[in-house]
Amino acid sequence: MSLIKLYGMPMATCTVRVLLCLEEVGAKYELVPISMPTGEHKSPAHLARNPFGQIPALEDGDLTFFESRAIARYVLRKFKGQGPDLLKEGNLSESAMVDVWLEVEAHQYNPAISPIVYQSLILPRMYAGTPDQTIIDTNLEKLKKVLDVYEARLSKSKYLAGDFFSLADLSHFSYTKYFMATPYASVFDSYPHVKAWWEDFTSRPAFKKVAAGMAPQQ
Ligand SMILES: *[C@@H]1O[C@H](CO)[C@@H](O)[C@H](O)[C@H]1NC(C)=O
Repeated sequence: MSLIKLYGMPMATCTVRVLLCLEEVGAKYELVPISMPTGEHKSPAHLARNPFGQIPALEDGDLTFFESRAIARYVLRKFKGQGPDLLKEGNLSESAMVDVWLEVEAHQYNPAISPIVYQSLILPRMYAGTPDQTIIDTNLEKLKKVLDVYEARLSKSKYLAGDFFSLADLSHFSYTKYFMATPYASVFDSYPHVKAWWEDFTSRPAFKKVAAGMAPQQ
């Protein structure tokens, strides 16, 4: 069996999503670095893996594909029975809840939190740019509305999909981790159940290991 190859960067938010899954199931894999500063993600070789020129992409034998949430599901299905059951595919209602909160992460949480992280962390540190405070403020308001929903949900169940840790929770890790290094981290203090949820699942060994490869926090 050939080794799974993940093309990406250990500090990139979507690469982190897949790395966490690989670590949770204890899979053997090779992380092949794709340098974004040199534009390697737009090279013909990488465009053959992902026509949108983004990272990550996965290569497993003859199969090559992209989109981190799809790769994450693939990894968890392939190594089913190894490590925790993060998809709950044996249970129709539980797997539906995992799907719901994965969609919420992709379509509600991510669009609000990612511009804040980009403006306040990535732009000044990686590209020497000046943050746009209007974008930050607009998205902080959006994020607070999303967190209101999360607070209500997490006051009823320990994790997003139910009383079990799942891919839906895991998927929130990278952007939230970076958000906690922005000047706006204290926003989470107003949401005690969200904060407890965050502190609970980020203590997992796989998370500590992957977090060590992410960008410096301060
Ligand atoms: C599926 O999960 C629900 C909620 O956790 C549980 O009540 C139910 O018994 C489970 N069904 C099966 C078939 O295991």
